[in-house]
Amino acid sequence: DQADRVRSSLLKWYDVNQRELPWRKKHGCGCSGDEDGDAKERRAYEVWVSEVMLQQTRVATVVAYYNRWMQRWPTVHCLAKASQEEVNEMWSGLGYYRRARFLLEGAKSIAKEERFPRSAMELRGIRGIGNYTAGAIASIAFNEAVPVVDGNVVRVISRLKAISSNPKDSSTVKHIWDLAGQLVDKSRPGDLNQALMELGATICMPTNPSCTNCPVSDQCRALSLSRCETSTIKVTD
Ligand code: ADE
Repeated sequence: DQADRVRSSLLKWYDVNQRELPWRKKHGCGCSGDEDGDAKERRAYEVWVSEVMLQQTRVATVVAYYNRWMQRWPTVHCLAKASQEEVNEMWSGLGYYRRARFLLEGAKSIAKEERFPRSAMELRGIRGIGNYTAGAIASIAFNEAVPVVDGNVVRVISRLKAISSNPKDSSTVKHIWDLAGQLVDKSRPGDLNQALMELGATICMPTNPSCTNCPVSDQCRALSLSRCETSTIKVTD
């Protein structure tokens, strides 16, 4: 069906075109198949830190902060022992210090548990982890088939479906979460979610989207209706 075609086009595109980012580096022996439990927890911590940094800050800026952060606190247990002052100092320049406070609080509560929470539902129980971050960690690190919706995904899905309601309205966002849920890839949920975000960041931009390079242009209702610009009010999240 249509969702199947969108999924397979996006994954094929993502395999070739994804940006090389430090939090996408593979861990473990690299032989084949799934990462082991430890590698998954490490991945979960990396996805968490990177996604929180990315919430209000551009990728190019985040990379340097992320690398410094991981050098200082390579695991969630290291972070849990840091002080708020140290964390704020490391965060300096990123703004919205509430994010740094939540990371430290979250690390402390995770370090008390036997293991990293693995499902989106459990993850949402940690202060500072909302639907978005929970979905990102669960799908990317633990392969749970749950959606992730950020401003990029709102725009991509709005265009694919030619949805012209205000992307800032909570009813629109809720509708997009539902649609993203129908699009989830059961075997590679994390890659599909990242492909949607990546497409929004690099091709399906707020203005002047690069439709000639888009892997799903033939399935895009906004494009077929020549409505790209109208269904794409800028979203900042
Ligand atoms: N923007 C925020 N998180 C992202 C991710 N995981 N991949 C691509 N773009 C993103």
